[in-house]
Amino acid sequence: MTIQPKKILVGVAWPYANGEKHIGQIAGAYLPPDIFARFQRMAGNDVLMVSGSDVHGTPVTLKAEAEGTTPAAVADKYHEMFVEGCLQLGLTFDLYSHTDTQNHWDVTQEMFLRHIETGYIYKDTQKQLFDPKAGRFLADRYVEGTCPYCGYADARGDQCDNCGRLYDALDLKNPRSKLTGSTDLEVRETEHFFLDMAKMNGPLLEWMAHGKEHWRPNVVNFTRGQLELRELRGRPITRDIDWGITIPLDGYDGKRIYVWYEAVIGYLSAAKEWAKLAEDDDAWRQWWDANVNPEALVYNFIGKDNIPFHTIIWPGMLIGYNAGETRLNLPYDVPANEYLNLGGEQFSTSRGRVIGFNTVLREFESEAWRYVLTALAPETSDVEFTWREFMERVNNELVANWGNLVNRVLGFAYKRFEGRIPAPGALDETDIALLADIRSGFESAGDLYNAVKLKAALTEVRRLSQRVNQYLNEKAPWQRIKTDPTAAATTVYVALQAIDWLKVLWAPILPQSSERIHSMLGYDTMLFGRQYTERVADGRGTHLVLRYDHGQAAGRWQADELPAGQALREPSALFTKLDDEVMADKLQAVY
Ligand code: MF3
Ligand code: ZN
Repeated sequence: MTIQPKKILVGVAWPYANGEKHIGQIAGAYLPPDIFARFQRMAGNDVLMVSGSDVHGTPVTLKAEAEGTTPAAVADKYHEMFVEGCLQLGLTFDLYSHTDTQNHWDVTQEMFLRHIETGYIYKDTQKQLFDPKAGRFLADRYVEGTCPYCGYADARGDQCDNCGRLYDALDLKNPRSKLTGSTDLEVRETEHFFLDMAKMNGPLLEWMAHGKEHWRPNVVNFTRGQLELRELRGRPITRDIDWGITIPLDGYDGKRIYVWYEAVIGYLSAAKEWAKLAEDDDAWRQWWDANVNPEALVYNFIGKDNIPFHTIIWPGMLIGYNAGETRLNLPYDVPANEYLNLGGEQFSTSRGRVIGFNTVLREFESEAWRYVLTALAPETSDVEFTWREFMERVNNELVANWGNLVNRVLGFAYKRFEGRIPAPGALDETDIALLADIRSGFESAGDLYNAVKLKAALTEVRRLSQRVNQYLNEKAPWQRIKTDPTAAATTVYVALQAIDWLKVLWAPILPQSSERIHSMLGYDTMLFGRQYTERVADGRGTHLVLRYDHGQAAGRWQADELPAGQALREPSALFTKLDDEVMADKLQAVY
C-alpha cells in the first residue's frame, strides 16, 4: 500500500517588523508551527511553511516616528532581526519573506480588483476621527480609548488587546490622539473601500457549522459566537496614510490598503513567491487551488489576538475571491494559542515587562528555549513564565531525563565496546517490553504532533525517555559488564536502539540535538535539511528571505533497526546545565 503524501500548508502569522519579538510571541505563534512542520516532513508529507514580516500599517509608522527614521528603515531593521532569531532557533520556513515585495503587491492588488468585480468590495464614505492639531485622520493605532465591549482603558483604534474584539474607532469611548495626546477630536467624512463582511456572515456560519471537531474549543467558540450575532458589517479596508500598498485605481494617491487586508493575503503570496523561486510557477496550486488539489490542508498558526482575522476576515475574503472561477482552500485548522504571561500579566514591550527573543538566544541555548516553551505551551489557557521554572525544566527534565541518558549510554558504549554498537545476545522479556513501549511512541506521540497537541507530545516522549532510564537502573550494565559482558552488551544495544528511536520522537522539538545524536550513533545521513538566507531581487528592489533546503533529509517517522557493529562518533554533552550563579540576575528579576 502506498500512501500519498499530504500537501500541508503551514501558514505562520506575519510578525510586525516594529521591534524585537518576545518569547511570548515565539511560544504562541512561531515555534509551534516549526515543530508541526518538522513532524509532518518526517511523516513523509509535503509541507510548505511560509510567512514573512508584516512591514506596513500604523504599527510600523508609529515605531518610525518614535525612532526618528523612516518606516522602510524600521521594517528592514526588524525584518533582519527576526530572520536572525529564526536561524538561531531553527525555524525552518520554506520561505520567510516580507510584505513590501513586488510579488506581494501584485497578489494583493489582484485580489482587491477581484473583490470589486465579485461585489465583495464597494466604495463608500465614512466618518472618521480627525485630529485638527495634527491635521490628520487617526487610522488604527493612532487613536486609543476605552473598549466599547469590555471597558479596557487602553484599547486601540481597530482592536481591543483585552477582549480581542474588532470595532470601528468611532465606537471607542473617550478617544485620544496618539499623535498629539489631544481628546479634542473631530469626526470628518472620508472616502474608502469597504469589504462587504455582511455578505459573508451567512457563508461563514455555514462553513463553521461543519468539520470543525478538530479545532480548539476557544477558537471555535469565539468564532461562532461572533458569527451568530449576525452583526458583520462592511469594514473599511483602505486608510488615509502614505505607507502601504497603493490602491490599483486612479484617484487614490493619498490612501493605502489596510494592513490587515493585505497581510493575510501573505499566506497565498508567499506560496507564489516560493514557487517562482523554485522555478515552477504553478507549484503553489498544489497547496492552494482546490481545483488542482482539494485534499490540501491549510493550517494557520497564530496567537489568540489574531483569531478574528484568520477565522472570519481571511476566510471571508477567500469566499469573496472564490465567487470567480478560482477555488482557493479555506483554512483547515487555526491552532491559536493563548498567552504566555509574565508577572501575572501579558508581556508588554511599552511597559518593559518583556523578555526579548534575540536577547535570550544570546544568553541561553536555543534548544533550552524550544524545550521549555513547548513544555509551557499556552495551548488551552494562559500560562505564567518564570525563570525559576525555566531553570528547573532545563535541569531536571531536558538535562537529567534526556541529555544525561544519551551521554551515559553513548559514553559507555564508546569506551567499553571499542567505539562500536555492540551486537546483542538474545533479548529477554524486559528488553522486548522496553522496545515495544518506545516503538509505540511513533503512534502515540505521532498522533499528538499531528493533532497539534505539542505539549502533550512532549510529555509523552519524556515519559518514554524515562522508561529507558528505569530500564537501565534495573539492568545496571555498568556493573554487569564485569560478570557477564554479553548480557551487558545486550542491554547497551537495547538502550542504544531505544535512544535511536527516541531521537526521532524528540526531533520535531529538539532538532539540533537529535541531529547530533544521529551523527554520534554513526550515521552519515542528516535528519533535516539546511536553512539559509539570500537576497532576492524583484520590481521593488531586493529583499532578504529565509529559506529551507530539504536536501537529503533522512529523518523518517519510523522505527528503523539500529545496525550492530556500526562505528560510533565520540559523544559529547548535548545540553548545558544552568547553575544558580548564571541564573542569579534572572531569578531576582521583578516584572
Ligand atoms: N502582524 C500581525 C501581528 O503581529 C499578524 C499578521 S498575521 C497575517 O499581530 F495573517 F495577517 F499575516
Ligand atoms: Zn475589549
